[in-house]
Amino acid sequence: MIVVAILLAAGGALLYRFFSETSLNTGTSSGGSAIVPQQEVNALTIYDWWTSPSESAAINALISVFETQYPSVAVVAAPVTGGAGFNMGPVVKSFVAAGQAPDAFQMHAGYEAEPYFDAGDLSQIDDIWDSSGLKQVTPDIIQQMCQFNGHFYSIPVDVQRSNVIWYNKAVLSKYHIDPATLTTWPALFAAAAKLQANGISAPIQMGQSWTAGQVLETIIAGEGTDFYQDWINGKVTSPNDPRMIEALQTFKEYLSYTNSDSANITWDTAVDRVIKGQGAFNLMGDWADGEFKLVGMKYGVDYGSIVAPGTQGMYGLVIDTFQHPEGASHPTNSIRWLQVVASRDGQDAFNPPKGSISPRSDSDITKYDSYQQAAIGDFKSATHYFPSVVNGSGAPQDFELNFITITGNFVADHNVANAASAIASTTRQFLSEYNRTWSL
Ligand code: GAL
Repeated sequence: MIVVAILLAAGGALLYRFFSETSLNTGTSSGGSAIVPQQEVNALTIYDWWTSPSESAAINALISVFETQYPSVAVVAAPVTGGAGFNMGPVVKSFVAAGQAPDAFQMHAGYEAEPYFDAGDLSQIDDIWDSSGLKQVTPDIIQQMCQFNGHFYSIPVDVQRSNVIWYNKAVLSKYHIDPATLTTWPALFAAAAKLQANGISAPIQMGQSWTAGQVLETIIAGEGTDFYQDWINGKVTSPNDPRMIEALQTFKEYLSYTNSDSANITWDTAVDRVIKGQGAFNLMGDWADGEFKLVGMKYGVDYGSIVAPGTQGMYGLVIDTFQHPEGASHPTNSIRWLQVVASRDGQDAFNPPKGSISPRSDSDITKYDSYQQAAIGDFKSATHYFPSVVNGSGAPQDFELNFITITGNFVADHNVANAASAIASTTRQFLSEYNRTWSL
């Protein structure tokens, strides 16, 4: 057995693992007489951005399922730090464009896959959807998010709810705040004001601009499903749209309760501050659940969650997927990986530590914590699903990136008119890229 060390340069933020493996390929020499063994690395290279403690635990659990089934394959995982994939995306794009695609990489469902699809970099994988039974057990909207022109190009590994506000239970109890009453933005802001009056200067913790963007898109969703649908269908093009103005005003008020260093902290630092009671609330996808439980906190006892005001019954969708890249060096292992990702065993290993739920309706609910069990119920009974823009799915990527910049500017200058106008003009600018029609 030889030791194979593969180093993958990943945009400066390099983490890697080593495994060992040999597979012998035999071939004849040009003279046709001697059989010359050629050594070929039987490997699987994976890129992802799961680097927080709970995220790492989740991807490692999924890799373990793969390794149990394929013990002879050397798994080389290259996690690139940076929430929501904003650092990993450009790294992988450059590899794919250079014809050096990894065997699998994390990618959001929906629009985020489009540049790869358009460039012909994704293989059609209808057969894996068939053989894994995914088609029978996955809701329609998720199936659509993994398709182009009626064919599947990615496999969903999770469903994460974006419109969740997490809270520290001890902090709320100390100031007699009942989270069940926080069903409107004014009620939430009144609670935040009470905490501020009691010396908690930033009762709502928030992270860098993509997480601020997630707050704003959630507030936009709270303006109504019809409005959100119009927005992601590229129909909100007026700088004076009253619902966008109202959403920005709500966000402006929200910012008066947030930490002044938000631009410089990661999503998991913001969660950590709520864990430590330095703040009471954080709006974040349910990957935050993984962080709370990893430090031993119990849902319903030490921490809890409410659905963001105005979005009750709605389920904001953040869906991570893997795909079969054209030109991957180990196509067989790439397919094997997708089969594991699609399987009930794979999903029920990955999602419990992650805080998310499985897109499969036949998942083993006993493996999930009480937050996740409630989320599974909410997911089934949701009145509307809405794809997150900031987490890659809902709108064209050019729009998404500008939206995050505009949000970052707004966090700094609080200028409602400027932001409304910039969001509308970005929509107009990229109108030709809105080629999905969402029906929420
Ligand atoms: C989301 C992703 C999640 C989680 C989060 C923070 O975009 O879908 O799986 O990783 O970013 O990095």
